[in-house]
Amino acid sequence: MGSGIAQVAARSGLMVALTDIKEEFVERGLSQVSSSLQRDVDKGRLTAEAKREILARIKPAASLDSLADVDFVVEAVTEDLKAKSDLLKAVARIVRPNTILASNTSSISITTLASATGRPDRFIGMHFMNPVPVMKLVEIIRGAATSDQTYETTRALAESFGKTAVEVNDAPGFVSNRVLMPMINEAIFAVYEGVASVKAIDEIMKLGMNHPMGPLQLADFIGLDVCLAIMNVLHDGFNDSKYRPCPLLKKYVSAGWLGRKTGKGFYEY
Ligand SMILES: NC(=O)c1ccc[n+]([C@@H]2O[C@H](COP(=O)([O-])OP(=O)(O)OC[C@H]3O[C@@H](n4cnc5c(N)ncnc54)[C@H](O)[C@@H]3O)[C@@H](O)[C@H]2O)c1
Repeated sequence: MGSGIAQVAARSGLMVALTDIKEEFVERGLSQVSSSLQRDVDKGRLTAEAKREILARIKPAASLDSLADVDFVVEAVTEDLKAKSDLLKAVARIVRPNTILASNTSSISITTLASATGRPDRFIGMHFMNPVPVMKLVEIIRGAATSDQTYETTRALAESFGKTAVEVNDAPGFVSNRVLMPMINEAIFAVYEGVASVKAIDEIMKLGMNHPMGPLQLADFIGLDVCLAIMNVLHDGFNDSKYRPCPLLKKYVSAGWLGRKTGKGFYEY
């Protein structure tokens, strides 16, 4: 997600600093951006020169100190409250006071993350969809203290990336994953209970509901670890058993079968 966000920002003309815990992960992100842009070059939607210019605008940042001068930060690390809070706290100490911090979290409370930063008025949820360069929506989530100015700047930024921004208030899973993830979890329960095969469930939802991908294929695409993390946030946040993650989802994550990114999930890649 981080490399996708860097790609759309650089393509809109902005200078981007891309960072991760290891330099090799930044390199991996840059090569994903390069392959994604190359597909556009091959299809005649982008010139090779424009591709080079976009890539040149993304600077690998070896440490958080490189973020001292940025105007806007989008955090897209692992879907884990502690990992995000610790990182955001560190980033807030480095960036300028008026820099806006945004999180691409899929489900974690924006109000809670904001409190880690000491600048809750300049903190917001900016939830891109996967794959970022293709999907039109950015769900923008206001925390309890997010200022109108922060919201307006973030909305304008999303629109400058060619996206459509939709505003929601802070609640577990926001709107997108509050609606999507229970459907995916229910599809996993259907596999778990032997109601139908993985392929049959996906075919029913594709042909019957006109979904471009079946829920199990989509779960593999999102990452089963991310799906489990989101179900846990919904379950804890609403304290309602209807959001309990399916035992089969937990088992796959324990086995390291995380979907497309590990080569195995409900399908093999
Ligand atoms: N996968 C999706 O479909 C999807 C869609 C929308 C939003 N999201 C959200 O985006 C975020 C990232 O998801 P992803 O699927 O890209 O996960 P991922 O596991 O593929 O990538 C996370 C990246 O964060 C890096 N990272 C972890 N801790 C870090 C730290 N302290 N400092 C710097 N980098 C760190 C990891 O090395 C890794 O490169 C999550 O919050 C997720 O919920 C995911």
